[in-house]
Amino acid sequence: MASANSPLAGRHVLLGITGSIAAYKAAMLCRLLKTAGADVQVVMTPLAKQFITPLTMATLSKHPILVEFFDPENGAWNSHVSLGEWADCMLIAPATANTLAKMATGVADNLLLTTYLSARCPVAVAPAMDLDMYAHAATQQNLRTLASRGVRIIEPGEGELASGLSGKGRMAEPETIAAFVGGLFDKRQTLAGKRMIVTAGATIEAIDPVRFISNHSSGKMGYAIAGELAARGAAVTLISGRTALPTPEGVERVDVLSAAEMYETTVAAFDRADGAVMCAAVADYTPSEVSETKLKKGDGELTITLRRTRDIAAELGARKGNRVLVGFALETHDEEANAESKLERKHFDFIVLNSLRDAGAGFRGDTNKVTFIDRAGHEELPLLSKREVAARIADRIEKIMNRSATAAQAAASGEPGQ
Ligand code: CTP
Repeated sequence: MASANSPLAGRHVLLGITGSIAAYKAAMLCRLLKTAGADVQVVMTPLAKQFITPLTMATLSKHPILVEFFDPENGAWNSHVSLGEWADCMLIAPATANTLAKMATGVADNLLLTTYLSARCPVAVAPAMDLDMYAHAATQQNLRTLASRGVRIIEPGEGELASGLSGKGRMAEPETIAAFVGGLFDKRQTLAGKRMIVTAGATIEAIDPVRFISNHSSGKMGYAIAGELAARGAAVTLISGRTALPTPEGVERVDVLSAAEMYETTVAAFDRADGAVMCAAVADYTPSEVSETKLKKGDGELTITLRRTRDIAAELGARKGNRVLVGFALETHDEEANAESKLERKHFDFIVLNSLRDAGAGFRGDTNKVTFIDRAGHEELPLLSKREVAARIADRIEKIMNRSATAAQAAASGEPGQ
């Protein structure tokens, strides 16, 4: 039964089906989307018709199926541009290795692909293929490329495959896919009334009026987190070092330069906050003296003495009480041990570990590969867009806040908390 509360109610979902044996699951997927209140139009690749009939999909979606650029009977044009405009979301399920490769390289040889290239809405793909095709470096590279352009990847599951082999490559189940698509529209104000701080970007430590010491942080991860928390209703103060990014919607941004300035601003703002996410790449050292005039070159070597900066996260950790504190660790070696030690030293609730050894993780890209570490264990996430990682971080923050609220209620009513 369609529910007005469903995030899919009234949404336009363009369901793309490609030529995979998993296409039979698209029938159930279409039904689930319709039941949740979405209006679904189906576009199929020519090969997909061999796997599931247009009649089945037309009956379920209650719209004619689109396969060709025009109707051969009467010449009526199927406009990929208006389809792209109609859609609130384009979901390609199943997505074959072939279609993913074409999407990654911009090939436009069928209606599904031209529609993808014209679509301005969020796009999600549910890959389906044999395990070796999925694991192949070319497919993985294509998925990274697509994720870096904002395409949401709905991870395939492990299990028995049509080839008779068993492994990763099985399309996610229709229920999982429908829930994922619903999540794209779910703008629940789950953090309404909460005040959050996010630090982001690189600090700049002046050597003289012209030179400075900094690092490669682009700020993208922290900006994505600030945007995500604000979208969930939190009042967000983004304390930002140097970046070239626009301020996310609904976020209050305070620009700072040095680690010292970031320290003062963040510590002051923390008094009124319910939590903080420490995403900035803060300089650990700063020049002991800043020359007021430009340093002139001489013949010999130049030595600059550096002194330690103050650790903002550690300071917040020392005064955190039951507020939420999330840290980041960017490591090149002994990743997990280093991250665990930071988790303890800085009293984080959890730490988000990035390894520079992982392809697709790190500074300037739009994707990230992270592991969440807390006192209960490790959770390694697949390669995701930074937006998706931000959503996972926000989910964890919500859980911690809900746990503290339940414990506080239990304490107030004299019952033992959990
Ligand atoms: N951090 C901070 N203030 C600093 C240094 C770091 O708030 N002066 C925060 C970062 O934003 C991040 C976490 O602390 O959330 C980890 O920072 P990192 O520099 O990697 O850790 P360090 O403890 O400085 O350890 P090391 O330099 O040895 O890796």
